[in-house]
Amino acid sequence: MVENQVGIEQNDKFFSDEYDGIAKVYSDSRDMPSRKFVEMYSLRSMLDSLGFRAGESSFLDLGCGEGRFAREAVRHGAGLVVGVDISAELIALAREKAPGISFHVGSASVSDLARLNIGQYDFVYCGFLFSCTTSVDILNEFYSAIFASLKPGAHFIAIARNTASGVDFSLKLLEYGWASVLTGPVDTDYLPMHTYINVKPSDLTEDGELNVDDPEFKERCFKFQSHVVTIGTHATAAASVGLQNFRAVDCQVDPKFVEELHENFFDTWKKYNPLMIFTAQKPV
Ligand SMILES: C[S@@+](CC[C@H](N)C(=O)[O-])C[C@H]1O[C@@H](n2cnc3c(N)ncnc32)[C@H](O)[C@@H]1O
Repeated sequence: MVENQVGIEQNDKFFSDEYDGIAKVYSDSRDMPSRKFVEMYSLRSMLDSLGFRAGESSFLDLGCGEGRFAREAVRHGAGLVVGVDISAELIALAREKAPGISFHVGSASVSDLARLNIGQYDFVYCGFLFSCTTSVDILNEFYSAIFASLKPGAHFIAIARNTASGVDFSLKLLEYGWASVLTGPVDTDYLPMHTYINVKPSDLTEDGELNVDDPEFKERCFKFQSHVVTIGTHATAAASVGLQNFRAVDCQVDPKFVEELHENFFDTWKKYNPLMIFTAQKPV
């Protein structure tokens, strides 16, 4: 487990090792229904509400992983799409899946983005990058890099775990394929936890715990370390680098899901609204 108060280099080393180790299974798990009907829909809606121009807007995906949001930005009509991730294995998969997109191995830090010399964008997006934030110093580093990568007047957007309701939903969403085992109260910033993917409702023991020692569970599921950052902490960090108009909303479910799934599919999801999407703007 990565300790609090590490520098960006140690943070990067920990998470590049973490994601290099699970790159293939992580990539294969990207097709879960909530990814398509909640995350992609929420990103497209937010882009459109912020004046996205098909054929023109440029889009930087920081912490792009295997590139699913970058590919969505291309499908949505972005004029230029670039992805950056600290995991070389995930970037290799991203390049395989979308040879036309420019993907780079690098850190969401001011110095590493300057080294990559990839310029400034109309939109800088972070899809779950903040789950790799282990301290206020790392958070501030990410926000400084975001600010430096935005054109004047341009918009930052992120999707992350929703902490606004203060609800501990970590074991309530097994029917959607994921669960988190917390190591403390959910409203603590930079709280480490293990997120498990490919879980099923039947993975809960009679005591209400995740059956992580079961051999079949170990075979089917994989885990990675992630962290919770509260929305108030995001707002403070965004303001501290000079971003304005900070706004956060619950991620919404695309009503079109009924064309592919049964109509009650997202009922539990809507009860907990586990994801939030937030935005802020660089002054003109
Ligand atoms: C939870 S994953 C999300 C990946 C992708 N955005 C997605 O949603 O599929 C977090 C990603 O952030 C990357 N990451 C962690 N620290 C980073 C850093 N300092 N700079 C760039 N990427 C980083 C990890 O390698 C990982 O791919």
